[in-house]
Order: sequence, then C-alpha cells, then structure tokens
Amino acid sequence: MHKVLAIETSCDETSVSIVSNINDTYTIHSNIIASQIKDHSKWGGVVPELAARKHLESLPFVLEEALKESTINIQEIDVIASTVAPGLVGCLRVGSITARSLCTLHSKPFLGIHHLEGHLSSILFSENYPKKSFLTLLVSGGHTELIKVDEGREMKRLGKSFDDAAGEAFDKVGRLLGLGYPGGPAIEKIAKEGNPLKFDLPKCKISDKKGGFLKYDFSFSGLKTAVLRLVEKINLDGDKVPVPDIAASFERVVAEVLVERTIKCARDHGLDNVVVVGGVAANNTLRKMMISEASKKSIKVHLAPLNLCTDNAAMIGAAALFRLKLKEHQSSLKLGVSGRLSIDQATTLYQKNPPF
Ligand code: KG4
Ligand code: ZN
Repeated sequence: MHKVLAIETSCDETSVSIVSNINDTYTIHSNIIASQIKDHSKWGGVVPELAARKHLESLPFVLEEALKESTINIQEIDVIASTVAPGLVGCLRVGSITARSLCTLHSKPFLGIHHLEGHLSSILFSENYPKKSFLTLLVSGGHTELIKVDEGREMKRLGKSFDDAAGEAFDKVGRLLGLGYPGGPAIEKIAKEGNPLKFDLPKCKISDKKGGFLKYDFSFSGLKTAVLRLVEKINLDGDKVPVPDIAASFERVVAEVLVERTIKCARDHGLDNVVVVGGVAANNTLRKMMISEASKKSIKVHLAPLNLCTDNAAMIGAAALFRLKLKEHQSSLKLGVSGRLSIDQATTLYQKNPPF
C-alpha cells in the first residue's frame, strides 16, 4: 500500500488530495479543490498572472484542509507528487516548489506528474477500469488528444487538435452566445432546451499532405467561426438569436466528431476499451453518444467519474500511485516545470537527469 499527497496547480484550480491504493483498488481520503472560476470569469478566460497569485494565496489553506479531512498525518505519507507539465508555467511553479519543499522538510521522495497522465488516471477510481491496453480520449480546456496507453504505461499520442481544444471551443462559443465562462457547463445547461438538429454546423477535418484527411486529428476553430457567422447573420436579419438551438447543435456536432474519430481510431488499432477523461468528459451528450455508438462496435467505454473530470489533485495522486506500483519511480528534486511536454515524453520526468 502506498499513500500519496498530490498537488495540482496547472491552471485555475488549486487542489490537494491524499490518495492510497491496495493492489488495484484506489481510494480518495481527501480531494480539496479551490476553484478560481469566479476570479477569471469577469475576464472571459484564465488570466495566467492572476491564476499564479491565487494559487500562492490558497495553497497553504487547501493543503491544511486536505490533511485534516484525510485524518492522515504527513509523516505517514510515502510520496509527495505535483503536476509539473504541461500548463501555465507560473502556476505549475507554485505547486511544484511547494511539493519539493515538503519533500525536503519531511524527507519524502518526489514525483513530478504529467497533467494529461493525471487526467487519464482519474479512471483508476472507477469500477472495472481497463487493465490491458486502451485508447483514451482526453478532452479538456487545453487539449483534445487520442492516446494509446499500454499496460506498462507506455503512452503514444495518435491524434490531437491542430487548433482549439474541444473545451476551448465550448468556452469561446459560450462567450459569443453571452453565456459566460466556463462555456462547457453553461452550453450543456441551455442546450437541454434546444433542438440539436436545428443547425447544420461543419465537422472540420485536417488535410493530409499525402492526400485525403488525417483520420484521428481534430480542428474546432472552423466550427467556432461557423457559429460566429451564424449569429452575425441572424443579428443582421434582425431576428432573435435562438441560443438554445445553437448551443444544442454545437454540442451535438462536437460530440459526433469526438465519438466518430475515437471509435475509428480504437478499431483501427485493435483496442476494445475506450477511456474518456478531462473537463469535457463531464458532458452528458458526449457520455451517452460514446456509450451507444461504441456498443454497436463491441467497444467498452469507461467514463471518468463526473466529479473527477475537471482538474483535481486526486487524479494526479492516482497517476503517482500507478507509477509507484509499476516501478518505484522517483523524480529528481531538481526537476523544474514545463509549459509544454507531449504525453509520449511523460517517463522523462523520472530520469536522474531531469529534462528541464
Ligand atoms: O480538464 P479541465 O478542468 O482543465 C484543463 O485541463 O483544461 O477542463 C476544463 C474545460 C473547460 O473548457 C470547460 O468549459 C470544459 O472543460 N467543461 C465542459 C463541461 N464541464 C467542463 N465542456 C462541456 N460540457 C461540460 N459539462
Ligand atoms: Zn486538466
């Protein structure tokens, strides 16, 4: 059994969690999340400098609360982990410096975690998570990726967005429909009152230099522009903008694109387990569509628990626990942070000579 104290500060949630595992069963003892959404919503998106300052202010209190709620003493913790890449550099630094200082103070090993590996590890808290190779659809505010994950945690990115991430598209469309930040939950709510088939919006593809289209990649900026043009035209015509219908049509198209490309990728790679994680994985239209379409192809879908889709430290702790179970991984205390690091590079975080 391992006990991990994990810190997540890569974007706009300050979170600390205490998690443990016994063999294949993962338990959350506490998972405190201080969201900065209110601080950023008036600016229509995350302001990096403000986010870093807020992490500095909140982290001591969040840490204290997480330890208190877990009833686990810091001396009983085996490893301290924090997200080190990718994310907002100033924000990552706050969590990583705090984690490494605690390691020095309490003589504990440190594990630097890749944020996307954290997201896909949120599935470890769900029942019957896949034990063999699986395909992950990771859909968040910063990333839309298809990642093949092997038993030994070898991870290979098979698809990505060439422009906006799915969550970013939700946020931008939410803003242009006047729904505020974050757009995802607001669009989902108002879409319930709309007709998803009302507007025919484009499913954009990326051209392949060799001809045809890239099968597993995504592009959402054209879809966002199509919504903008639609709203402009309705305004020019002097009509009332049918926000619920536009939201529902947009949500349907995003879900269809994500589901179609994920299933194609899984089938082409002989993977019969699909994991869906990240903030956009909280979307009910996507969740339902993925399950029903995948079942037609005998693919089993594993959805991240609803409360662990958006950023939280429990998923970072789960990634650390999995690394410890696999091999006694440890990161150098000299490991810094990086705004960008492909998921294929995640194991470099455990090298004696850190990559950054
Ligand atoms: O994973 P996350 O917390 O942060 C990143 O790592 O980026 O994801 C946040 C994103 C935001 O873009 C937000 O609009 C989107 O997830 N999101 C949703 C829903 N809840 C959050 N998108 C669609 N439907 C939702 N219910
Ligand atoms: Zn995230």
